Amino acid sequence: MQVNSSLMPAQVQIELADRSYPILIGSGLLADASTYQHLPPASTALIVSNTTVAPLYAAQLRAALGARYPKVLLLDLPDGEAHKDWPTLQLIFDALLANSCDRKTVLFALGGGVVGDMTGFAAASYMRGVPFVQVPTTLLAQVDSSVGGKTAVNHPLGKNMIGAFYQPQLVVCDLDTLKTLPPRELSAGLAEIIKYGPIADMPFLDWLEANIDALLASEPAALAHAIQRSCEIKAHVVGQDEREQGLRAILNFGHTFGHAIESGMGYGQWLHGEGVGCGMVMAAHLSQRLGLVDMAFVNRLTRLIQRAGLPVKGPILDAVDNAGRYLELMRVDKKSEAGEIRFVLIDGPGRATVRPAPDAVVREVINSCCQ
Ligand code: NAD
Ligand code: GLY
Repeated sequence: MQVNSSLMPAQVQIELADRSYPILIGSGLLADASTYQHLPPASTALIVSNTTVAPLYAAQLRAALGARYPKVLLLDLPDGEAHKDWPTLQLIFDALLANSCDRKTVLFALGGGVVGDMTGFAAASYMRGVPFVQVPTTLLAQVDSSVGGKTAVNHPLGKNMIGAFYQPQLVVCDLDTLKTLPPRELSAGLAEIIKYGPIADMPFLDWLEANIDALLASEPAALAHAIQRSCEIKAHVVGQDEREQGLRAILNFGHTFGHAIESGMGYGQWLHGEGVGCGMVMAAHLSQRLGLVDMAFVNRLTRLIQRAGLPVKGPILDAVDNAGRYLELMRVDKKSEAGEIRFVLIDGPGRATVRPAPDAVVREVINSCCQ
């Protein structure tokens, strides 16, 4: 597998007819006015960020956008998954209306997946749709959440249950922003990168095993390659199934267990990527129990997830009936049909399938994977 060692900016295209757009990957992109030169003209741009990211990057983005938009506004949301909710979403609409923003106003999501998902949802619904741009600043957001147009807020009863499919005009992955990312957040992003291997690309899994230490050390060439390959795989899947009628569900490998952990523990206790990392281990065990992969594959994946600094044992969500609590939470999932949970399973290395599993087998897996 070739690595772009020169670190020239790379571009991955999302092909969706009139909703197609580029993902730009490189250094120095965020502060470069030419990054934004092909965006639709407007009198106003609104940067939506949060109280952690705005002090780091909003001034640079604002200066770059000033060349294109006469008025550039900034809104800082409270930080954290616990604020990915309806009241916080409302703050975006408040800012848009208070500033008389019209339907040409362009929204810029500057931050991680929480800011990106909420800004995208606001863009989808303000005046029935205004343009928006993703400027992801976490590894997780650069390899997954900023790409593909899923937008949402959480509901106390279920993760990402209220939202819309709505594509951005542009995704700007500036590698320089990752320099300020805390190590725990870097590991969380690695979970979503690792996921692409078992579901679609075993050579990429081989590459990740060989380069996981370089990624943990934030080596730019390794990060650039991992981000580009992840975006290529996601672009390929989304290009075939934008609205998750089938294939796209494979991108949720590890998420059924992971979302149960996130909501069961209380949003923000486990990071999304931590839930996904541990959830992939549980989903791999379930695949093995159903005869789809062997134990050697499960152990291999578990080792990589552990090396990435992610938890591989699930938390106890209920002292009396832990498996029952997981099952209850997992039924509130967008893949569920008529109350039946459908799991993304590995159907041989590099291939995923989505199907139900007997409760008794799922219970065995939960009991053996939680501590
Ligand atoms: P996040 O948005 O909460 O960001 C993690 C933390 O890092 C936050 O505290 C944030 O303020 C901080 N941060 C962001 N960029 C930083 C930087 N450059 N330097 C220092 N700190 C920085 O979490 P996340 O992991 O980016 O995203 C998780 C969310 O994404 C979840 O809500 C999940 O459901 C969603 N998601 C959506 C999709 C999708 O397809 N839409 C896919 C995967 C995940
Ligand atoms: N993160 C899963 C998806 O975009 O479909």
